Amino acid sequence: MKSPRLTRRYFIKASAATVATVALGKFILLPVIGCRQEPTSLPADATNLLPIPAILEDKNPDPNQADFELVVWKSTTAFFKGKYTETYGYNGDYLGPTIRVKKGQEVNIRVKNLLDEETTVHWHGGLVPGEMDGGPHQVIPAGGEWNPHFTIEQPAATIWYHAHPLGLTGEQVYKGLAGLFYIDDEVSQNLNIPKDYGINDIPLIIQDRRFGEDGSLLYLSAAGDSIIGMLGDTILVNGAISPVLQVGTVKMRFRILNGSNARVYTFTLSDNSRFTQIASDNGFLESPVELSALKLAPAERAEIIIDFSKYSVGDVITLASPGFEIMEFVVKEEASDTTTIPETITTISKIPESSALKTRTFDLMGVGPMANINGLQMNLQTGMDTIHEFINLGDTEIWEISEAGTGMPHPFHIHGVHFQVLDRNGQTPPANEQGWKDTVLINPSEKVRIIGTFNYKGVYMYHCHNLEHEDAGMMLQYEAK
Ligand code: C2O
Ligand code: CU
Ligand code: CU
Repeated sequence: MKSPRLTRRYFIKASAATVATVALGKFILLPVIGCRQEPTSLPADATNLLPIPAILEDKNPDPNQADFELVVWKSTTAFFKGKYTETYGYNGDYLGPTIRVKKGQEVNIRVKNLLDEETTVHWHGGLVPGEMDGGPHQVIPAGGEWNPHFTIEQPAATIWYHAHPLGLTGEQVYKGLAGLFYIDDEVSQNLNIPKDYGINDIPLIIQDRRFGEDGSLLYLSAAGDSIIGMLGDTILVNGAISPVLQVGTVKMRFRILNGSNARVYTFTLSDNSRFTQIASDNGFLESPVELSALKLAPAERAEIIIDFSKYSVGDVITLASPGFEIMEFVVKEEASDTTTIPETITTISKIPESSALKTRTFDLMGVGPMANINGLQMNLQTGMDTIHEFINLGDTEIWEISEAGTGMPHPFHIHGVHFQVLDRNGQTPPANEQGWKDTVLINPSEKVRIIGTFNYKGVYMYHCHNLEHEDAGMMLQYEAK
C-alpha cells in the first residue's frame, strides 16, 4: 500500500464523482451515497432528493459466506451548496454503506482505519462473540486494521454499525460514523411486504446536527450540551437536509434508525394519518401495530409501512416530529401494488418471568461529568479494567432499570443480548414494544423491567445510548461465561 493518507482535494473530487471507483491498495471503494433517485418530472421543491446508501459489495461468491471491506476515513461533505463540511465516513464521505447478510452466513469484515485517531466498529444489535462486538475494547489504532468474523445466528432485522471508542463515541458518530446492517432470513424473504431496497423498502437514518456559518459541524458548542446531550437544529435524513422522496400510490416500507446522539423523536405524518409498524429493534413484531405517532429514542429502530394508495398525484405528506419537518413524501404517480401486510408476521415466544434466575437493578444517576450507573462509571478516567457484573452463560435474567433523579430520559442499551420489555412502572408496554429489543427508553422517574437470555460469551457494554451520557461514564460492562 502506498500513502495511507489522502489529501483533502482528493476527497472533494471523490465526493463529486458518483460513478468513480477508488482503488486504495487492496481496498476497492465504491461511492456510498450513489443511487440518488432519478427525477423525471420534478415538483418545484424536489431539488433535494433522498439519498439511498449503497449496499456494500460482498466479495465472496460462496452464498454461505460474505466478505466485506470498510475503510474509515476523514472526508468532506457538501450539506450546503458550496460549503464543505469536514466529516467522517465508511467508504465514503458521511455515514456508510448498508451491509446486508443472510441468517446462517459466515461474515468476514476487514476494517481499515485511515483516521488520525483510534476508532472501533460496533455491530449494534448484533449477536456476536465479545471479541467481535466492536465495543471500546476492540480498538483499531490510527492506520490499523481489524478483522472481525462471525456467523449470523439471529432472525431478520435492521441493525446498525457505528464507532464506539471509549470517550469518543459521541463525536465520531456525530461526524458521520454510522451505517445500517440488514439481516435477511426465510421469514423476511417469504413475506409479501415491500422489500425492494431503495424502491419500496427505504432506509431512513435520522440525525440532528448543528452547523456553523461556514458549514462546519458544531459539537458540544453550547452550554448544556454535555448535560442534555448533543441536540442539533437541523435534521439530516441519510445525510441530506430535509430531503424529498417521490412515491407512487403504493405501500412503502421505511426502516427508520434514530441515529441521533441524544434526540428522542415522535414521528407523525402531516395529515395525522396512521401507519403500520411491522418491526422493532431486532426483528418483526408478531403482528402489525397501527400507529399515528411513533416514539423512537437514540439507537432504536422501527420498520413502518405507509400506504400512499389513499393519496392523489401531487399530494405532499410531511414526516414530522415536534419542532421539525423531517422530510417530504411527494406522490408522483399512480401505481399498482401487489404487496400485503399479513395479520401474523412472525412468532415471538414470550420469555416467562419465572425462567429468570436473577434480577439485577441498575439506577441511572448523575448529570454531566457525573453521569453514572449505580454510582459507577466507565470513561477515559476510569479505564476499562473493571468488570461490573458477571453472568452465567445461558442464564435468563431480569434487569430492572430506573431513572434516578437526573430528570432526563435515557435510552438504555445492552450489547450481546436481545431482550423483551416486561413492564414500565408496572404497566404492560405498548404493543410496538413487545418485540425483540436491544435499546429501551427509560423516561424520568420510570422503572423498566426487561428480560433476556445471555447466550453470547465475552465482555459486553451496557450503557445509556445518549452518546454524551455514555462518553461521560454512564456505561458499565458485564462478562458472560
Ligand atoms: Cu450502539 Cu454500545 O452501542
Ligand atoms: Cu450495541
Ligand atoms: Cu442518558
